[in-house]
Amino acid sequence: MPSLVVVGGFFGDEGKGKIISYLAIKDNPTIAVRGGAGPNAGHTIEYENKKYKVRMLPSAFLNKNVRLLIGPGVVVSPEVLLKEIEEFEVSDRTFIDSQCGIIEESHRAADSQGRLKELIGSTGSGTGPANADRAMRTLKLAKDIDSLALYLEDVPNAVNFALERNEYVLVEGTQGTFLSLWHGTYPYVTSKDVTASGICSDIGLGPKNVTDVMVVFKSYVTRVGTGPLKSELSPEQTKIKGWQEVGTVTGRARRAAEFDFDLAKRAIMLNSATQIAITKLDVLYPECAHMNSFGDLSSPAKHFIKTIEDQLKVPVTIIGTGPDVNDIIDRR
Ligand code: GTP
Ligand code: IMP
Ligand code: MG
Repeated sequence: MPSLVVVGGFFGDEGKGKIISYLAIKDNPTIAVRGGAGPNAGHTIEYENKKYKVRMLPSAFLNKNVRLLIGPGVVVSPEVLLKEIEEFEVSDRTFIDSQCGIIEESHRAADSQGRLKELIGSTGSGTGPANADRAMRTLKLAKDIDSLALYLEDVPNAVNFALERNEYVLVEGTQGTFLSLWHGTYPYVTSKDVTASGICSDIGLGPKNVTDVMVVFKSYVTRVGTGPLKSELSPEQTKIKGWQEVGTVTGRARRAAEFDFDLAKRAIMLNSATQIAITKLDVLYPECAHMNSFGDLSSPAKHFIKTIEDQLKVPVTIIGTGPDVNDIIDRR
């Protein structure tokens, strides 16, 4: 399995960070490389009674053997990146591409007010305005920033060289398919394409060098910010179901709806998925919490997974049964 690309199938926050952490520990890739928009992403990872929140670094950082790379398509906040490098003690194995775009204070200011904040419900992280400047070809790049000099690397070269040596590369997507600038619910989307093709372009991985694409779905759909959400539940209904969640970056409440098979089918198509990961099965079926074996799941939980496989025609290889990295059923 030389390259595995992991992407979100709904509106982000599907639990990619936790799934990627598990894969990094279990599969021991040489490299984990992040594509996607920028520090608008937020992953929450729980492992051995500790809770980690990451916005810039690859979620694979828990495995100390893994080199952590960020591709040139990602815009970087030096402040957020340097803080995470220090906090997670990864300065010896973190590298960003010298062509990563740089988010500055002016981008955050533009993102925290007006149309972007009010109509789109942006995260205020400066990601969208920085990508707009990149398109205008005025954005600074990582190679222009002194404080990043130690961490510069030719990321596409490192990724492709590793694959040539038959080493395993784990590719981390952020956000989700329907937040894609091309394929999502425009204009209520992020500032990039975040489907598997976009993520691969971000890191310089050509289509013929992708071995597997894993699309991550939550057991129900959540969406933070504005934009359409079919069959959206009221906050009261969301609470009764136990589906209430709070965003990692903004602290906003996530809106919720039942699992949407039509959206999921389209996500499978757009990403050419070869595998599915389902997270939060324990939230739908509390009797399944912390289980590690498919055989132990209750009949309704098994039926839910089987319905997904029948409808989407792609195997569910990974199932999340709790927030901890080890709350996983691995059927690969
Ligand atoms: P983005 O890159 O911002 O799209 O985020 P993400 O996909 O990494 O997801 P995020 O961490 O923002 O949200 C997922 C939440 O669900 C986190 O709080 C996780 O700890 C939690 N979580 C992930 N998988 C499971 C699971 O199987 N069961 C339960 N109960 N919680 C889970
Ligand atoms: P922006 O990417 O900060 O401009 O935000 C645009 C829209 O995408 C808003 O609705 C955000 O809430 C949403 N969004 C951006 N990144 C993420 C993410 O990582 N998880 C969930 N929603 C996101
Ligand atoms: Mg998130």
